[in-house]
Amino acid sequence: MRQKIVAGNWKMHKNAEETEDLLNELIDKIPNDIDAQIIVAPTFVNLASAVDHLEFTTINVAAQNMHQNENGAYTGEISADMLTSIGVTTVIIGHSERRAYFNESDAILAEKVTTALKHDMTSIFCFGEELKDRKDGQHFNVVENQLCDGLFHIENEDWKKIILAYEPVWAIGTGETASPEQAQEMHEFIRETVRKRYGSNIAEGVSILYGGSVKPENAKEIFSKPDVDGGLIGGAALKADDFCKIATSI
Ligand code: G3P
Repeated sequence: MRQKIVAGNWKMHKNAEETEDLLNELIDKIPNDIDAQIIVAPTFVNLASAVDHLEFTTINVAAQNMHQNENGAYTGEISADMLTSIGVTTVIIGHSERRAYFNESDAILAEKVTTALKHDMTSIFCFGEELKDRKDGQHFNVVENQLCDGLFHIENEDWKKIILAYEPVWAIGTGETASPEQAQEMHEFIRETVRKRYGSNIAEGVSILYGGSVKPENAKEIFSKPDVDGGLIGGAALKADDFCKIATSI
């Protein structure tokens, strides 16, 4: 049975005090018996305090990014070793905003995945098409290429450390959520693409999250689809009540 996962990508939001306040609300409001792994991804400066704050809960902490190199003259960057040294063992890699604003190519992302695996970290590997790709009927090709060029260098045994996150760029932060049918269609394609390259056991075992304007009012229907194993939540993750409603929709 695949792991159900609801992850909140906080992006560049919440200072130290606001982070503590939101975490306290989540600790109070998220049921302990929820049938899903809950992950929160605060900004770098708040990761250590988040790990401490959530120590005695089942909520996991993820970083929103990391550099592919072990260390060096990369001003402003964060390494895998720095993250694991504070207890962060999950990292979002390849978010569309990193790809778009920071020119993170499939080749760079492949290196980041390799570094994460080397440090026994779990990668939430993000990918998804632009609106133009979908309008041109190229969305399946784009997604397949992102998987092949950014992820499919890994070995079979590495898949236990991979979570996939399909995020159609046109749905991120826009309120234009993909329909449950669109999400299921692409997730089914993604699972089949993994199956062709790695076989059924790995394809059936990998969690594929949907991201892109998931809200309390649409989460249940999206999560009900057979190949949707949860969500990667942006804006709605910043409000405890909304994130809890989404998490309990799974
Ligand atoms: O990583 C999740 C994020 O990109 C989705 O953002 O605000 O559309 O839920 P949002």
